[in-house]
Amino acid sequence: MKLTVNGATTAIAAGDKNLTLLEWLRERLDLTGAKDGCGVGRCGACTVIVDGKATLACKTILANLNGARVLTIEGLSAPSEPLHPLQQAFVDKGAIQCGFCTPGMVLRSHAFLLAHPRPDRDGIRRALSPNLCRCTGYQQIIDAVEAASAAYAGQREQEKTT
Ligand code: FES
Ligand code: FES
Repeated sequence: MKLTVNGATTAIAAGDKNLTLLEWLRERLDLTGAKDGCGVGRCGACTVIVDGKATLACKTILANLNGARVLTIEGLSAPSEPLHPLQQAFVDKGAIQCGFCTPGMVLRSHAFLLAHPRPDRDGIRRALSPNLCRCTGYQQIIDAVEAASAAYAGQREQEKTT
């Protein structure tokens, strides 16, 4: 069995196929951006993107993912590159305090904005409802996603003209 994680094809050891995606990412690949908040699908801290869809890694068993493409927060922008515009918007808008929810919030927002590059605030609020934040009170997070949406809309326009 194989998965593509952040663009790299990675084999799954036979003994690991019953692990959750969250356990495998954190314990085998040392990708600790996805957080183990509740472990039962209630907080969204473990959110990653699987085949373009925001996915709770704590509720996803590796055996069901053969051939899937996984994006974690570590793959959104390389350490040597500037932050992704969505990450930068979280910083600029004060949407990060302890940061525990942030990778999941950013990735769920990323999947949403790719599909809906011109969202309204209610749409953003609904899209992020599976993800909990104990610190920021949500307004700053919605502000950040709204601010970053211009970059996604611009990219969509550029794709239409090329
Ligand atoms: S750790 Fe997966 S939803 Fe909470
Ligand atoms: S920034 Fe602390 S839980 Fe969201």
